Amino acid sequence: MEQEIKKLQEKLAQQQKLASLGLLSAGIAHEIQNPLNFVINFSKMSSRLVDDVEDIVNDLTDKISPEDCKELQDIAADLKDNMMKIQEHGERAISIIRGILLLSRGKEGEKLPTDIPSLLHEYVWLSYHAMRAMDKSFNVSIKEAYPDNMPKVMIVPQDLSRSILNLANNAFYAVNERWKAEGETFVPEFEIKLEYSDNRILITISDNGCGISEEVQGKLFHELVTTKPIGKGTGLGMRITHDLITRGLNGTITFKSAINQGTTFQIELPCEQC
Ligand SMILES: Nc1ncnc2c1ncn2[C@@H]1O[C@H](COP(=O)(O)OP(=O)(O)OP(=O)(O)O)[C@@H](O)[C@H]1O
Ligand SMILES: [Mg+2]
Repeated sequence: MEQEIKKLQEKLAQQQKLASLGLLSAGIAHEIQNPLNFVINFSKMSSRLVDDVEDIVNDLTDKISPEDCKELQDIAADLKDNMMKIQEHGERAISIIRGILLLSRGKEGEKLPTDIPSLLHEYVWLSYHAMRAMDKSFNVSIKEAYPDNMPKVMIVPQDLSRSILNLANNAFYAVNERWKAEGETFVPEFEIKLEYSDNRILITISDNGCGISEEVQGKLFHELVTTKPIGKGTGLGMRITHDLITRGLNGTITFKSAINQGTTFQIELPCEQC
């Protein structure tokens, strides 16, 4: 009886911890939305200003030399490209934040027709760019294998995208750790494979990183476990991923891992064709 009570108390403490983390992340996500909207809107305004500059340059073609004119036009085109990138990535960030807000509100996601290969591609590269933004020395060879002409399927897209982001973040971190330990002779590799048949999809994500110790493997999905330093990990990623895959998407997630060889996760999901 005493042991039962102790277990329940521990569970309760952990749930409280998770609930307050949920509130905290919802608060942060909410606050980040505003400055992000500023970034996107000012970038849109600046794009329009560059259009105006282009018009003026075009009107001045007979007053300035052709070389100067060409240079101004090239600069305007580059500026517009840059502005587009700011908008595109800003909007991506907003959509991730919406996902966090939805999750922390505990709302059930809506199933939408989803192009799975594009979703996987987008979130793997989002994770890669996030890692590169923090650490310029980070590099990895990324292999992607998706079936040709896969039809859209009905799925809750933000549940899958958050899971992929968590798994890719972990994999990139793991290959980078091994690279730091072993040096230039080690070639970091990441692979994502998608298979589709009979209204089921199978996603395999592997890395040749540092691997997961047996101790961590035993509690990977169940506890707030992290081996990362403060500020690099909270130990929530796998737990959330497990919940999203099993409860949100009705699927399964399994893994195999060996120290200094790598880790492979397999996700199997049921899905209906649209
Ligand atoms: N692909 C992987 N390779 C090696 N270790 C991994 C891998 N995936 C997970 N791990 C181990 O499992 C631990 C828990 O992962 P989890 O994603 O839950 O938390 P985290 O990455 O530490 O923090 P965060 O909450 O930011 O995701 C990690 O700290 C790491 O030790
Ligand atoms: Mg993680």
